[in-house]
Amino acid sequence: MSELSVKHLLGIKYLKEKDIQLIFETADHFKEVINRSIKKVPSLRDITIANIFFENSTRTKLSFELAEKRLSADVINFSAGQSSVNKGETLIDTVNNILSMKVDMVVMRHPNPGAGIFLSKHVNASIVNAGDGAHEHPTQALLDSYSIRERLGDVAGKKVVIVGDILHSRVALSNIFALKLQGAQVKVCGPKTLMPKHIESLGVEVETNLRKALVWCDVANMLRIQNERLDISYFPTTREYTQQFGVNKALLDSLDKEVVIMHPGPINRGVEITSDVADSKQSIILGQVENGVAIRMAVIYLLASKIK
Ligand code: CP
Repeated sequence: MSELSVKHLLGIKYLKEKDIQLIFETADHFKEVINRSIKKVPSLRDITIANIFFENSTRTKLSFELAEKRLSADVINFSAGQSSVNKGETLIDTVNNILSMKVDMVVMRHPNPGAGIFLSKHVNASIVNAGDGAHEHPTQALLDSYSIRERLGDVAGKKVVIVGDILHSRVALSNIFALKLQGAQVKVCGPKTLMPKHIESLGVEVETNLRKALVWCDVANMLRIQNERLDISYFPTTREYTQQFGVNKALLDSLDKEVVIMHPGPINRGVEITSDVADSKQSIILGQVENGVAIRMAVIYLLASKIK
């Protein structure tokens, strides 16, 4: 397989297992490129990409921009906070105005689930979902699986637990789709109030005891509590949440094996993860960020090859 089965990257749900393998093989090449002294290739000199962010971001925004520049694409950046969105302009009008400047690809983060899908039906450009509300964050899940493959050799057959606010997490949903597609076993762990109804229908098991989940797994992906999406109180106090679902060094040291620790960022140090764990050799958190650039280069390169 030499090309993706999709024209847009809207979610992992729309990918096939072969798409993921192609993205990983392409990322392997780009990871080698970005570790050279000259980190840039001329592949996308004729492509213009707009990064449009309607929600805050550090890692994803910088990582996409760097990936695009490493591929020699022309890049324009748009943040809703400083734009005419504040004057009432609609999403379609905003994007059509950007596209009339001859833009080929749009990378979009938006607070509304399905915003990328909606856009892909109304504009003539390749759309990359950089996170849409509590729905999907496909490039995060791809870089997460790529980092597991790098550390453990393969994703198939590995046991992964995703811990925390599963209900509001686009990272959790995209990771579940990606891990299951590659043949991993997946559990989710967190307070019952932060567990979506019928989550088992996605082929995952629910575990409410973190210690049991850690004894079972090879990898623990620790999620942040999505305070910006919590409309009510889902647990009594942050302290109680940390006592039950936070990972700390004493807990990890009490296991008779080494669990790989992941986190998509941003980290709430001392809440879902202590600093001594986040900064330990068991943690691959900064490796995930490094791999994000290679994965996003691969995604953009493969989608650009489908632009007519
Ligand atoms: N992981 C992630 O999406 O981080 P940002 O919100 O900083 O982009």
